[in-house]
Amino acid sequence: MDLRNEHLNLGEWMELIDSSLADPGSEPLLNLEGDEDPVYDAVFVGGGAGGRFGASYMKAMGGRPLIIDAWPFLGGSCPHQACVPHHLFSEAAEELDRMRWFSDELFFPKFDASRASILELVKLFLAGRGSAHAFMNWQTKEQLDVEYVLNARATIVDKHTVTAAGKTFRTKNLVLGMGARPVNPDIPGLDLRGVYDFVSLVEELDYEPTRCVIIGGSKVAMEYGSFFQATGCDTTIVSRSPLMRTKVLHHVDEDLRRYVVDGMRQRGMTILEEATPISVNGVDGSVRSVTVRLVTGEEVELETDFVFLGTGERPTVEQAQKTLGIEVGPTGRVVVNKRMQTSVPGVYAIGDMISGPMEMFKARKSGVCAARNIMGEDLEFDFTEFPDFLHTTYEVTWVGLSEAEARETYGDDNVIIIQMPPYVEGLDTPNLPLPCAEGTMLYAFSKPELSGFQKLVIDGESRKVVGAHHVGYGAKDAFQYLDFLIHRPEGLTIDTLGWMNELFLNPEHFVQLSRLRAGNAKLRHM
Ligand SMILES: Cc1cc2nc3c(=O)[nH]c(=O)nc-3n(C[C@H](O)[C@H](O)[C@H](O)COP(=O)(O)OP(=O)(O)OC[C@H]3O[C@@H](n4cnc5c(N)ncnc54)[C@H](O)[C@@H]3O)c2cc1C
Ligand SMILES: NC(=O)c1ccc[n+]([C@@H]2O[C@H](COP(=O)([O-])OP(=O)(O)OC[C@H]3O[C@@H](n4cnc5c(N)ncnc54)[C@H](OP(=O)(O)O)[C@@H]3O)[C@@H](O)[C@H]2O)c1
Repeated sequence: MDLRNEHLNLGEWMELIDSSLADPGSEPLLNLEGDEDPVYDAVFVGGGAGGRFGASYMKAMGGRPLIIDAWPFLGGSCPHQACVPHHLFSEAAEELDRMRWFSDELFFPKFDASRASILELVKLFLAGRGSAHAFMNWQTKEQLDVEYVLNARATIVDKHTVTAAGKTFRTKNLVLGMGARPVNPDIPGLDLRGVYDFVSLVEELDYEPTRCVIIGGSKVAMEYGSFFQATGCDTTIVSRSPLMRTKVLHHVDEDLRRYVVDGMRQRGMTILEEATPISVNGVDGSVRSVTVRLVTGEEVELETDFVFLGTGERPTVEQAQKTLGIEVGPTGRVVVNKRMQTSVPGVYAIGDMISGPMEMFKARKSGVCAARNIMGEDLEFDFTEFPDFLHTTYEVTWVGLSEAEARETYGDDNVIIIQMPPYVEGLDTPNLPLPCAEGTMLYAFSKPELSGFQKLVIDGESRKVVGAHHVGYGAKDAFQYLDFLIHRPEGLTIDTLGWMNELFLNPEHFVQLSRLRAGNAKLRHM
């Protein structure tokens, strides 16, 4: 379907996307300038976070990019199956948690668990997800003026030629942004009905689970597990590493970790750490239990009607590896340098296909980095340090070094900790209504132990903030800026932080807490 001279509104885009998704044989959606056999500056294979941002930046710089995507929409997995449902579910988990704690208190109604349904939230997501897709197709065409071919799988012929939708496209450069897909552990029984991952959960769930066993122990396990538990679906996490101690997560502070994991247990979740899943067992083709070897060596059988896999993702590298011979590392990620160049000149790889965190900032910025290099800039993108977050029923955010890492780097005597609630023997901190902040005010005044945790880590000698850690609500945005400030060459000192203008009642309290201590020539803990 040639859409070049059509100017669809959002409702029309939604209808077109929905009907294309419903019919796997539906025709490609073409937004092409229409000139004879153009040579593009870059063809972006994959129009997800990386491809769409990279192509848009290239267009803004005066280049000519083309995006090809197998789905009938731009934006990729994030709005379709990953971040957006995760945030919807995590927000539901937060609301449900509050409603449970305050059931029949103040103005809260008595909590009715029968109205908290996983299936209903999945349906709510499916009914609404098209609006983000429609917006991105519209914006990329009408506001960003980027050419694209959607609903068409690309075949890479060589590094200058790609075919899709029955057409051949010629290009000077190739940018691979083909994403990743869930990877299953090698255990028997995963083909039983009732075994899901983050993709099949939204695409295929057709019953209300009553008990859940999650395999895996990182972000997906903790976020989806917290949501399932909050709906009333009894959830057990089977994790081979301690939670938040998986290799993928760096700089996790032990006190923050303990507050988060204890909080999950307090809400009724069973968390089996250093446990090995042995098999998923079924009756009549449906899941009935999971056999697990505990840290003690004992084997137990956990009854369940719902198994959820959060065991990570594998990049989609096969086609490019086979056709172009690009180098792929031992973990299955495409090897690139800091300019996103692969081992084959003129071929770039971005987003979840390359090493580093599988996160949106990296996907988008790596796409932009590839585009800027193709357009002649000499730009490197180093993503070794970054702020991070996950959800439980809280928002958990951190940046820089953990306390233990700081002690190792700067020496025990030099590290200064400012935290809330403070660690002081005999102070009865569980009953201290602190932090008392945005999003936890109701808890602070009635269930103080639920009101969060925060810690600032400072190198006492240089007075620079080297780490910040937060459990609560509403602080995530601040961490984007804290990350920038503490990673500048001049860093961020307690003196500068303490002289900032807080928007009281600010969720992380870091500004005013620093101000209380900044007057000390020799800094002290608080
Ligand atoms: C459950 C979950 C929650 C997440 N939540 C967050 C979050 O809150 N914050 C965050 O920062 N990150 C989050 N992430 C990570 C984030 O979703 C990814 O890092 C990001 O989407 C990767 O973008 P990408 O462009 O590399 O790949 P994708 O967005 O996956 O895009 C790849 C595109 O390539 C296309 N494609 C593949 N092969 C072909 C082909 N042969 N021809 C044409 N097209 C092709 C696909 O159709 C797809 O559109 C989450 C991930 C998961 C799994
Ligand atoms: N920003 C966000 O909020 C957000 C949210 C969700 C997802 N994401 C991103 O999406 C990606 C996928 O997330 P994820 O949590 O599924 O994956 P992940 O971070 O790669 O973690 C995979 C988990 O599965 C475990 N595991 C792997 N193979 C296993 C096996 N064979 N048997 C038992 N356990 C196994 C790992 O254990 P070990 O620890 O022992 O290795 C780890 O706990 C990640 O890169 C993540 O950053 C981001």
